[in-house]
Amino acid sequence: MDRINVTHNGPIALVTLNRPQQNNAMSLAMWQGLATIFQELNKKTDTRVVILHGAGTSFCAGADISEFGKLRSSPENLGVYQRAVDDCIEAITSINKPTIAAVTGYCLGGGCGLATACDFRLGDKSAQFGIPAAKLSIVYGASETENLLSVVGLPNAKRILFMAERMDVDQAHDMGLVDEIADDVIALANQWATTMSELAPLSIAGAKTLLNAFAKGDRGLSAEDSGALIRHASLSEDYTEGRAAYAEKRTPIFKNR
Ligand code: COA
Repeated sequence: MDRINVTHNGPIALVTLNRPQQNNAMSLAMWQGLATIFQELNKKTDTRVVILHGAGTSFCAGADISEFGKLRSSPENLGVYQRAVDDCIEAITSINKPTIAAVTGYCLGGGCGLATACDFRLGDKSAQFGIPAAKLSIVYGASETENLLSVVGLPNAKRILFMAERMDVDQAHDMGLVDEIADDVIALANQWATTMSELAPLSIAGAKTLLNAFAKGDRGLSAEDSGALIRHASLSEDYTEGRAAYAEKRTPIFKNR
């Protein structure tokens, strides 16, 4: 879609929110478009890692408040809007490859929701985080709240949501919201992505499915489901390649099958 770009550099996809004049505030169409992009990337076996960032100086200043009067004001359209946000967050959270949010500037409200849907968050000195939902009488979405909780824990999640304060990158790092601070977040994201893209994708996808399920408290993931993930990786061509490379003392070349 025109407000979101996707570029590919070998196994690394870079998804760019491209509405810099509005600090990449997410319109309803952007929530829907971003969901579709992540659903498509999920199917691409040659893409191994996805980096999400914002064009211009900010990552994302949240949902587009200017649309709220028209698109988020009745029981009916509130439901449609929230479903679009939840679908987008779910598409990012559950994509079968690692995701990195490279955060500069504002990362607010729904922008924090996008960042916490990713597996990792890197921030530079300009990055500012916060969820000002309580300033607008909004209950933050369930999927976004769940991800926030699993990233920062209960006391920090309450502090962020109840106080609605803005945090700098050091505070966000102390809370575990930011994994690492870098001068150039895209360069560091590419470095992390390169490392992960060279490892066995079925191994990472299986670990991600298990960790996400356990983080949701989903102990109900059946032995059959987890067994299927383990079998899928252990009966793969990549598993044979991994063992052969180990025996031959060389770097394995994984094919995601
Ligand atoms: N929705 C729609 N537009 C937004 C936006 C949002 N969430 N956040 C920023 N913008 C737009 C502003 O309306 C402005 O557009 P304009 O030039 O056409 O008026 C542009 O981005 C620049 O923002 P501005 O406020 O002039 O810049 P600033 O540096 O002084 O402040 C923010 C930036 C992000 C701190 C401030 O815009 C803000 O508080 N935005 C709302 C953040 C928010 O509450 N997000 C959660 C939504 S649920």
